[in-house]
Amino acid sequence: MGPARVRRNQDADWDAWPVADYLAENYRRLHPCDTEVIHHHAAVYRDCAPGSLARTLELGAGPNLYPLMLAGAASRRIDALEPSAANLRYLRRQLDEGPDASWQPFYTLCRSLDPALPESGAEALRPVRVVPGGIDDLVPGTYDLASMNFVAESVTEDSAEFTLFCDAFVRAVRPGGRLLAAFMERMPSYRIGTGPVWPAFPVDEAALRSVFGPRTTGLRIARVAKDPTLPEYGDTGILLLTAGRPDGPPTRPPTGPPTPAGAPAPQG
Ligand SMILES: C[S@@+](CC[C@H](N)C(=O)[O-])C[C@H]1O[C@@H](n2cnc3c(N)ncnc32)[C@H](O)[C@@H]1O
Repeated sequence: MGPARVRRNQDADWDAWPVADYLAENYRRLHPCDTEVIHHHAAVYRDCAPGSLARTLELGAGPNLYPLMLAGAASRRIDALEPSAANLRYLRRQLDEGPDASWQPFYTLCRSLDPALPESGAEALRPVRVVPGGIDDLVPGTYDLASMNFVAESVTEDSAEFTLFCDAFVRAVRPGGRLLAAFMERMPSYRIGTGPVWPAFPVDEAALRSVFGPRTTGLRIARVAKDPTLPEYGDTGILLLTAGRPDGPPTRPPTGPPTPAGAPAPQG
């Protein structure tokens, strides 16, 4: 038997994303790791004057509302870009009918960290536009800030495609724009509930530095310890990234694709 074929983004049926199971496993209650991610992200938005960002991106928004809520004070228009029919349905319903009650503890924390946020989560979500589409639809230079949570490393097993995702994410912001991201650390391909196996590319801090270092300025990476209250996805924690898109051309040419975390580094 030959080696298992590397699964690329298009090999998975994203329309069938298991929204209910994903929410049940990850977002029906505030986990300790969510608290840390929210603290990290809120500091970025607190640094932006209310309404100062004309247009921001949530890439691969999925059914996760807290990154959209956090952007609600600083951003005048938030594009929640998402290819999955199941996730689009959930997002639209949350915007039309108001967020599920389970998002309230998330929003209470967001607002306690950023007093510029409005009283309710529903108001914070008002600037959100649900945009069907994916990475290939991004137009370079569109956004003042781009955010991406658990996407590039959770949608492909292919290192070159992981790099392409990150590259398109960086280029989606205008020169001088800001980047904010979270990655599962060293997560192998994963399962949600009893559903199918989803493709993933295991990354560590070195892999993120090799991809984002040559493409960004002011790169900062923080680590959140593995959260034992989450299901076992095989990860070792979460990596949180902030950076900016350089004003001019990159000073160093981008390097080749990173090696998966845990694999031997290429020689030579
Ligand atoms: C692990 S989920 C993360 C969802 C959400 N961002 C969160 O914080 O929970 C990965 C998301 O990436 C989306 N996705 C898959 N392929 C994509 C593509 N080509 N472009 C943009 N998003 C994609 C999936 O539909 C899914 O919503």
